[in-house]
Amino acid sequence: MTSQKNLGSLLRDGLEYESAGQKDKAVGCYEESIKILKTQMKNVDVIQQEVLKRQIQSLDNAIKKIGAPKKEKADSKNEKNDALSILGELGLSVSQGEGPTLNEVVGMDDLKKELFTKVIYPIKFPDLAKEFNINISGGLLLFGPPGNGKTFIVRALAREVSMNFIYVNPSSLFSQWFGNFEKNITSMFKAAKMLSPSILFFDEIDSLFPSRDQTTSDASRRGVSQFLNEMGGFKNDPANPVLILGATNVPWQLDPAVTRPGRFDRLIYIPPPDKKSRSEILRQYMNSVVRKGEIDYEKIGDLTEGYSAADMEFLCRYSSQKAFMKSIEGKQNEFVTMDTFLDALKVIKPSINKNIIEKYVKFEGERKS
Ligand SMILES: Nc1ncnc2c1ncn2[C@@H]1O[C@H](COP(=O)(O)OP(=O)(O)OP(=O)(O)O)[C@@H](O)[C@H]1O
Ligand SMILES: [Mg+2]
Repeated sequence: MTSQKNLGSLLRDGLEYESAGQKDKAVGCYEESIKILKTQMKNVDVIQQEVLKRQIQSLDNAIKKIGAPKKEKADSKNEKNDALSILGELGLSVSQGEGPTLNEVVGMDDLKKELFTKVIYPIKFPDLAKEFNINISGGLLLFGPPGNGKTFIVRALAREVSMNFIYVNPSSLFSQWFGNFEKNITSMFKAAKMLSPSILFFDEIDSLFPSRDQTTSDASRRGVSQFLNEMGGFKNDPANPVLILGATNVPWQLDPAVTRPGRFDRLIYIPPPDKKSRSEILRQYMNSVVRKGEIDYEKIGDLTEGYSAADMEFLCRYSSQKAFMKSIEGKQNEFVTMDTFLDALKVIKPSINKNIIEKYVKFEGERKS
């Protein structure tokens, strides 16, 4: 009888903890309940045993659904598989060791230095980092005009450190997550933790978390709150380091709470490439073009003020395609030359102007003041 009473209150407590989101406590109550049921099974007839078995089964399922508390290393493989299947259900995939190398990312020297100090070295030298109480948790938001390497450098970082890289693409999430927005945000953070050390990258984060004042959707507003809660939960958890990264080209459209210190600790401006970097991007791209003549990369760098990194790549692609077509058509200019580039520059125009840059500089200034 005593055990009956204990069982009843344990189950009630478990339910209450579960609905309050106190998962570990809920799981604890359910595990205790299972122990009691197993003891009871020894003293009852076969029919009653079947009833108890079913009760145990449903408690087991509840534990699985809630997500068991952290397991030690022995279970890490299972945990990884669980995390992968959670992410699969959410329409997200995980990669490791893919993407460009950091050497292929032209310029951005200050950002690279910061990434080495805050992320790459702590991961490569975990024991030393521990002794200095340095961990990689926290959020970093990259912002700047389109096509200048925000996504590119994050992919390179993921490759450099061989961390599990979870790429969150907002457009696919909206359709797949409809009706389950908050729940899915929680599951996603949980999976990232299970896969730690990991990078959770929210690309174009503005479309996922627009300002709560500007959106009329309740679901979206609740999603932002949930996101902020989860992010707060990651703070100072050296046992499960998850680096949360975001990128946007309209930082002023983000919900202000998302960019508040403690969530995205650092905002980093990614400007368009300067003259030197523009020449270097050209040189790098043209390295893989065999049929090329004399090209004055410095000169093209001079002529391309306002061109984004993506514009520079397009310039190379366009020029190579022109020369390729001339070769096919049997005409003379069958190499990419300086003239091919000068002709291309008449057609391909810069995508960035002074007004655009001023908006970013103003945003950065307002945040610092
Ligand atoms: N620093 C760089 N060095 C070499 N190539 C670069 C660099 N930055 C960008 N690129 C090239 O330009 C392409 C576009 O860059 P990316 O997609 O990273 O831009 P973005 O800043 O994320 O733009 P958006 O805001 O539109 O998402 C990259 O795929 C890469 O090929
Ligand atoms: Mg991008």
